Amino acid sequence: MAKVTGLEGVVAGETEIGLVDGEKGHLVYRGYWAKELAVSKSYEEVAYLLWNGRLPDAEELAQLKAQMAEERVIPEYLCRMLDLFPASVPLMLVLQSAVAALGDKENTTWPPTLKQAVRLTAVLPAIIAYRARRLQGLEPLDSLPELGHAANYLYLLTGKLPEEAHVKALSAYLILCMEHGMNASTFAGRVVLSTESDMCAAVCGAIGAMKGPLHGGAPYEVISMLEDIGTVERAEPWLRNALDNGTKLMGFGHRIYKTKDPRAEALQIATLEMIGKDASFDLALHVEATAIALLEEYKPGRRLFTNVEFYAAAILKALQLSPEIFTPTFTAGRIVGWTAHILEQAANNRIFRPQSTYIGPMPESEVVS
Ligand SMILES: CC(C)(COP(=O)(O)OP(=O)(O)OC[C@H]1O[C@@H](n2cnc3c(N)ncnc32)[C@H](O)[C@@H]1OP(=O)(O)O)[C@@H](O)C(=O)NCCC(=O)NCCS
Repeated sequence: MAKVTGLEGVVAGETEIGLVDGEKGHLVYRGYWAKELAVSKSYEEVAYLLWNGRLPDAEELAQLKAQMAEERVIPEYLCRMLDLFPASVPLMLVLQSAVAALGDKENTTWPPTLKQAVRLTAVLPAIIAYRARRLQGLEPLDSLPELGHAANYLYLLTGKLPEEAHVKALSAYLILCMEHGMNASTFAGRVVLSTESDMCAAVCGAIGAMKGPLHGGAPYEVISMLEDIGTVERAEPWLRNALDNGTKLMGFGHRIYKTKDPRAEALQIATLEMIGKDASFDLALHVEATAIALLEEYKPGRRLFTNVEFYAAAILKALQLSPEIFTPTFTAGRIVGWTAHILEQAANNRIFRPQSTYIGPMPESEVVS
């Protein structure tokens, strides 16, 4: 039997939440194209869709927005706890500890509830921004209830009321991060929950999985590549040199997508709307086209196209977010998918218990009865 590593190709369960079709380049959230939702709906609308299976009407949306605005407040004890962590503790581990610390009686019931999902989703960006500002020697800010989820996150980070175009771009990014099938962190969350643990413990497990560089991504590597290339004229020689040296081009290739990642397509539109067609966008477009052509020349038949990291980098750079909060920001999007999967798991739960093939030595003596 062929050896399966990393559970590749293994179907671990059924879901109604999201479809990822790598051959066709499809990403579907509950019957809608994710790339269309990203540019036409707000964070709250898509979160409602993933949690409830349908888009909200005006009243339901207003209710969710009000609930999320209320739930953004970080409890006093948690602020004190956040201040105790040394600066050297990675932000993702601080986030994991913060979610664990929110695991009071109300947040650790069996089965988990939608209210818990809303609570954790609403407060997570406030915790990220609190910690990020403290690390920069800045005073953390209180959320503004009149701002939507994405706008408030930008406000908490920068201290300035954000421009509409920036809010739209960040919102598109967060929506496209929300759900991606049975990825490592979502699977981790479902496995933890399947023991009849709780929402907070399952989200902590998911954050732990997201922290690793093989999952949480590193769009800043794309930023340094684009900065290093610098001009349109330097693109082809730079890329050829990298490929000649066996270096992987950042922002290209994907385990599942064998065509352009649909998230990259939507982010390209959002980037264009936000920063307009300036020199850095022209450079990104040129590098993208040149890289795809060269990848086909150097790696024929491997079907290497642009992935989500390429335009995520362009957006996060234009928003002037610091590299340390790239993965936490990805997390602020993906928590919606995690919590939707956790609720789905709870609704039809069976504990995950795969088997392993023992390849170690056997005892030398006969079986002792
Ligand atoms: C995403 C990634 C890890 C997928 O890996 P994978 O499914 O295991 O694909 P493989 O590493 O088996 O790649 C298949 C072939 O294409 C090559 N390849 C894959 N991505 C490449 C890239 N970005 N640049 C150059 N060559 C690449 C591999 O070297 C390999 O070549 P070979 O057949 O001659 O050995 C990989 O494409 C990559 O490292 N990309 C760059 C990093 C990146 O953008 N990560 C963000 C992902 S969202």
